[in-house]
Amino acid sequence: MLEDTTLASRERYMALVACANETPEDFWAKQARRINWFRQPQTILAWDTQQHARWYIDGEMNICHAALDHHVAEGRGDQVALYWDSPVTDSKRQYTYRELRDDVARLAGVLRDLGVEKGDRVIIYMPMVPEAMMAMLACARLGAVHSVVFGGFSPKELAVRIDDAAPKVIMAASCGVEIDRVIPYKPWLDEAIELAGHTPEACLVLQRDQQLATLGPRDHDWQACLQDAQATEAVSMLGSEPLYILYTSGTTGKPKGVVRDHAGYAVALHYSMEILYGVRPGDIFMAASDIGWVVGHSYIVYGPLLIGATAVMYEGKPVKTPDAGAFWRLIEEYRISCFFSAPTAFRAIKKEDPEASLIGGRDISSLRSLFLAGERLDPPTYHWLNDLLPVPIVDHWWQTETGWPVAGNLLGLDMLEDAQTLPHVPVPARAGSATWPLPGFNVQILDGMGDQVAAGEQGNVVIQQPLPPGCLTGLYQDAARFQSAYLAAYPGYYLTGDGGYLDEDGYLFVMGRIDDVINVAGHRLSTGEMEQVLGAHPAIAECAVIGIEDSLKGEMPLGLVIIKDDWTGDEKVLRQMLRERVRDSIGAIASLKDVLIVERLPKTRSGKILRKMIRQIAAGEQYQVPSTIDDPSSLEDVREALSDAGIGRAEQARCANE
Ligand code: COA
Ligand code: AMP
Repeated sequence: MLEDTTLASRERYMALVACANETPEDFWAKQARRINWFRQPQTILAWDTQQHARWYIDGEMNICHAALDHHVAEGRGDQVALYWDSPVTDSKRQYTYRELRDDVARLAGVLRDLGVEKGDRVIIYMPMVPEAMMAMLACARLGAVHSVVFGGFSPKELAVRIDDAAPKVIMAASCGVEIDRVIPYKPWLDEAIELAGHTPEACLVLQRDQQLATLGPRDHDWQACLQDAQATEAVSMLGSEPLYILYTSGTTGKPKGVVRDHAGYAVALHYSMEILYGVRPGDIFMAASDIGWVVGHSYIVYGPLLIGATAVMYEGKPVKTPDAGAFWRLIEEYRISCFFSAPTAFRAIKKEDPEASLIGGRDISSLRSLFLAGERLDPPTYHWLNDLLPVPIVDHWWQTETGWPVAGNLLGLDMLEDAQTLPHVPVPARAGSATWPLPGFNVQILDGMGDQVAAGEQGNVVIQQPLPPGCLTGLYQDAARFQSAYLAAYPGYYLTGDGGYLDEDGYLFVMGRIDDVINVAGHRLSTGEMEQVLGAHPAIAECAVIGIEDSLKGEMPLGLVIIKDDWTGDEKVLRQMLRERVRDSIGAIASLKDVLIVERLPKTRSGKILRKMIRQIAAGEQYQVPSTIDDPSSLEDVREALSDAGIGRAEQARCANE
């Protein structure tokens, strides 16, 4: 049952939901008026040939202009736009809106001198330095399509993205800096270009003191180019034109290139900064993520700038740089009011400092809210944070494809209302839930037949079309995959790939993926891709990779392999070699917890490996053996291998139809 104050909030919320669902064009026309346009859109909503919603297609704007020039023109030029804090290099910097605009305008001039034009793709392979943010904004300014590749990915993964995006230019740094080592970005970039079929015309390389790169014939020194560059104005972009491609893991080895536009994205981010995060111009906002992920795109770079807030960019970790008090130090030092991170980061802090003693005498009174996403906020971590901090702890759910949060506890509902009304009271959180869907996202739970399930019952989480502005406009040059992965399952709905339920009060509980995607320390990875790497080893006959529960990282990948009969060798050495192979091939973030050797894997008679059942056995859950199973005794092999390795809770797993 909801209390009276919550009912009042619910009523206010339902009014917005009704408006967004029943008259989406009016609703989103109103939101569009809150950002800066060169030419207001006449067409608010249009449908593409796949019956997917497109927004503001004839409006004209430029997200870089709306994020920087507009604020300078409105008198915000001397406000700090960006604080950069890098404990791993012992450096700090800050930029006002005017400085950031000027640096970005000159960097856009450098790109233009290198031949980059509207529509050209530019890959950005950089660590968490201000120049990475400038690179994104400079591309946007020119109308070039940026594609940021996370620095933790291997040269092979970078090569796959180079071939798909076919960039004219790649922007990179000489190195990244992790807790205990320097990561050689430029040598990895060279290796990736060697591996790729496509070759960029030029690479712009930022030299960092920690490791200078050797520059070859196609390389240009970032700083030297900037010295000669002329500032460039922002080009006008139609609402339908792309801003970026961001690759994310799907169920196959090939990543999906999520495409997003300028205008819809800008409107949606501005809306979310207000209605969800409750952030006002001048507030200090920090998202502790990486620009290589969607969180970085939306809430390190574009979101805070669009609203006129100050962003804090952090090149460090929640722990060990230097200790588990890093986040508290940042909040105190920059007077952060809204902080965003992944649950795994707080599990790491809790592990090292269970009493949070490192908050010590720090003044963290500026903090108004803490947002968590990237994976489900597990109830123990929620309770730990809720007991510790006197601010709302908000679990909010979204994905690379949606670009901004689908559900969360709205902290700024009143900021959208025209009249001065009573302040909105956030509703009580329910541990394990991302609260309510945001107005604009019509979330429903469907069963396998496409029927809505009752409250409290689990099913597929889907979003009814029209998806709001800011969501993906498609997959880069792959309309067929966009259709089959997201639109085909339930015509008129977008399939999120997550399973979950809505309770009787409309709270959304997202329980996990329904496909072969896993979430390791907030990083989204494909088990199919890891299987490809394992399966390519000459000793391996068959394999499966599943995600198993991990108290720190949420999930960890585990490999199960069948060795070929004629293979002779040391099994321990092979297991280690396979683990290294996955790390080398995908990146250090894809470290297998273990590789177990089994005699058989459970399969259907048609040869499909029953991965869900292996997952259930590892988790100690009840499982249903399908009548189509080829060899039921294979389940015992898996159970035994897991138990022997002391992994999961296999002994507790029970067969439902025994
Ligand atoms: N460039 C190069 N290597 C990177 C990297 C990057 N940008 N990011 C991570 N790696 C490497 C790490 O050095 C590590 O290598 P190692 O196994 O040789 O030590 C490996 O990838 C795994 O890194 P990570 O998953 O980050 O684990 P960790 O044990 O170093 O740290 C946490 C654990 C929880 C502290 C860390 O994962 C974290 O801060 N997570 C939050 C993630 C996040 O913000 N996600 C975004 C979603 S909102
Ligand atoms: P990514 O595209 O990398 O942002 O990963 C998106 C996926 O992470 C989602 O589809 C979910 O499976 C998971 N996820 C992210 N945030 C949450 C959350 N708050 N609750 C549950 N799952 C989440």
